[in-house]
Formats: sequence, C-alpha cells, structure tokens
Amino acid sequence: MNILLLGSGGREHALALKMSQSPLCGQLFIAPGNAGTAQCGQNVNMGVSEFEKIKAFCLENAVTLVVPGSEEALVNGIYDFFRNDKALQHIPVMGPSQYAAQLEGSKAFAKLFMQRNRIPTAAYQEFNKDNFDAGIDYIKQHSLPIVLKADGLAAGKGVVIAASHEEAITEFTQMIQDAKFGDASKTVVIEQFLTGIELSVFVITDGRTYKILPEAKDYKRIGEGDKGLNTGGMGAVSPVPFADAAFMKKVEDQVIRPTVEGLAAEKIVYNGFIFFGLINVEGEPFVIEYNCRMGDPETEVVLPRLQNDLLELFTAVSEGQLASQTISVDQRAAATVMLVSKGYPEAYEKNKEISNIPAPTRDQIVFHAGTRQDGDKVLTNGGRVLAITSLATSLQLALAHSAQTAEKISFEGKTYRRDIGYEFRNV
Ligand code: AMP
Ligand code: GLY
Repeated sequence: MNILLLGSGGREHALALKMSQSPLCGQLFIAPGNAGTAQCGQNVNMGVSEFEKIKAFCLENAVTLVVPGSEEALVNGIYDFFRNDKALQHIPVMGPSQYAAQLEGSKAFAKLFMQRNRIPTAAYQEFNKDNFDAGIDYIKQHSLPIVLKADGLAAGKGVVIAASHEEAITEFTQMIQDAKFGDASKTVVIEQFLTGIELSVFVITDGRTYKILPEAKDYKRIGEGDKGLNTGGMGAVSPVPFADAAFMKKVEDQVIRPTVEGLAAEKIVYNGFIFFGLINVEGEPFVIEYNCRMGDPETEVVLPRLQNDLLELFTAVSEGQLASQTISVDQRAAATVMLVSKGYPEAYEKNKEISNIPAPTRDQIVFHAGTRQDGDKVLTNGGRVLAITSLATSLQLALAHSAQTAEKISFEGKTYRRDIGYEFRNV
C-alpha cells in the first residue's frame, strides 16, 4: 500500500511510525510532516486541506490510502471529495464523511445526536441571534458555573466556563452579537457543568462494528497542578487507572455502542477513529465532546501500546471487515511528556536547535511534534516540540523514564510539566 498521511504533529509521527512498521506499508508520504515523520517516510510540502494538490499527488504517486491525522481535512470534507471524484473513488480515506465530522465540527449537532440516541451528556440548550433574549433568560436562571460553547471549531478556545451570571452574559453576548469566534460562535451551546475526572476513549469503526483501543488521559493546562491556559495537551498516560472493567463496560454500553448504532441507524457514513472525550461523574460516564480523529498527545501513548498492525486494521475498516479483527494491547503502562517552546500556548519563538534526542528503544520513543530538519540539525518549529513516550511495568516508572529524558534533551526555552500523571504516581 502507498499511504498519504496528512498532518505534522506528534500524533502524525506516532501514526507514521506505526504504519511504517507494517509489512503492508509500501511508500509512506506525510504532508507536510516534521523532522520525525521524515525518518518514517517522505515528507511532502502540501497543506492538509489543499484538496486539488492532494488529488494530483495521489494520482501521480499511486497512493492507495489516505489517513487524515487532524480534524481539519475531515471537517472540510476530504472523505466526500475522494468519494465524489471518479479518479479518486478507489482510494479509501480513513475518516468520517463531512456530515459525520460534524460530531466534532458542531457542538449543537453532537448534542442533538446524543439526545436522539440517549447518550449521557450534560443538559443543554442552544441559542443564536434569533433567540438571543431567551438565552439571556436561560443564563440568569442557570446554576453556577455555566459552560458556554461556541458551536463550531474555534482553535480549542471556544469553551468558556463562567463563574458568575454576569461573566456568562458578557461571554454569550460577545460570542453571538460580536462574533467573538467568527461564524463558529453564531450558535452557542449553554450547558450544565459536570464535576469529575476526564479521560479519552478511542474506537476504530467501519460504521457497523467498532473495536476499542487503549484509553488515555491527557493534561491540557500549561501549568503544573492543572493551572493556567489550555494547550493542545502537555502529556498523557495510558492506561487510566480509574477506567476499570466495570467503568469501561458502562462506557461501552451507554456511550460507544449507542454512538455506533446511532450512526448506522441514521445512515451516517463513518470509517475511522472516534474519540470520546468523557468525564467520570461519580462512576458514571458522560460525553463532554466527540472528536473525529485520534487525540494528540493521546496517540503517543495509545499507539505504542497497540500491538495490532495498524494497516491491517485500516484495510479491514475500508473493506467493512472490522468484525474479523481482534485488538491486542501491550500490558505495560505508557506515559508521554511534551516539551514545549517558552511562551506556548501564547507567542513563542521557533528555530531553536534541539540536541540530545535519544534513539528509540523498546521502552522509549521521542515523537517529534513541532520540529523541522535543517541540514543535519533539528530545529523547533512549533509550540509543542517533542513528546517523550516511555513504556514500563508501572505508570510511575514510565513517568520517571520520560522525566529523565526530558531533562537531557535541550533547546533554548524548553518548558514542560513535571507532574504529568500526578493522580496516578502510586500506580
Ligand atoms: P471541549 O472543547 O468540549 O473539549 O471543552 C474543553 C474543556 O472544557 C473540556 O476538556 C473540559 O475540561 C471542559 N468542559 C467542557 N464541557 C464541560 C462541562 N459540561 N462540564 C465541565 N467541564 C466541561
Ligand atoms: N488532546 C486532546 C485532543 O487531541 O483534542
């Protein structure tokens, strides 16, 4: 198989490495890729939503599988672009249709889907400029805190948790009247605040069958103790100790199966990953959000634990044969620690030389995120720079190994959290 992988983060390095290890892998192209993906295949200078360029590239290079890493191309309709073009119809795209990608691209769509399919989620109402006044009234009688969500994609900034009614009214007004997030906040979902601990659960589906992958927990805040601004993710662990068999059975019965059955019943085309952002509220799972792709940095702990041939799974999905596959998981624990640029998630500098990246071993892989190759140097090229993943017999050991390597790797402004997995240090 010749594969085109779209993206340039740590998730894409993890996907590229895993696919490159398969005997089914022919040529592997990554667009645009980073210095790490360049070690697994050939980077191609092309944006993930440049569909016409992607088409020409796939035809010239006899690509037989397209794997979008992030949501961007999926929400922009890459699946349908391939299906609707006679020259491209034979090339499977590992991801949902544009319609189905609204599970991530529109909070209101996701909420309605969950309501129709009786999937546990926070109580909510949706508002736009036509029922703006009703929205203000809704906020005034709402218990605190109040969660406001811009309907569309807002670069991870569209969720506001307001501590007071005044703050909620100000945010709500800015989102709808002042288009704070552009079209993304034309519609706003207002929902009940849920208290609990979050985790990420992943499945791969062919639209009829699903297979559950290892779960993970990520750490979104920049600062230790989960303080400060939200980031793309500063680290992750897998497994998640509180996600025991009893809890995961509830997740499967109440969330996963109703979601996949709902997609099938509503004839929504979905081939690829579903990422369930869940919260455990006193032992009961609730859906915070759906994503239509793998997580980053969760992929950097999920894929190293997955023992299956990823290309065999992708082939089974594209042939509607996923039921014949069995998932096999490395029982070791995995932890990843992100090294980020000073200043991230706000303004930061790029082009700092990185040194002392260790070669991969059976127990540790340093995934590249925001890096680029410049001659024989590796330079920083993004906010999140490297993800140091370690595998060990306990989470505690895996975390300790990642911490040692985090200390050794150097670049100017290197910043990271030393408390990833803090709740599970004794596990
Ligand atoms: P989202 O973009 O939907 O993932 O939301 C971002 C973050 O906001 C989530 O990871 C949660 O930490 C938090 N959040 C979203 N919805 C809720 C909710 N209903 N209750 C509590 N926290 C929430
Ligand atoms: N780590 C969260 C995400 O990928 O959305």
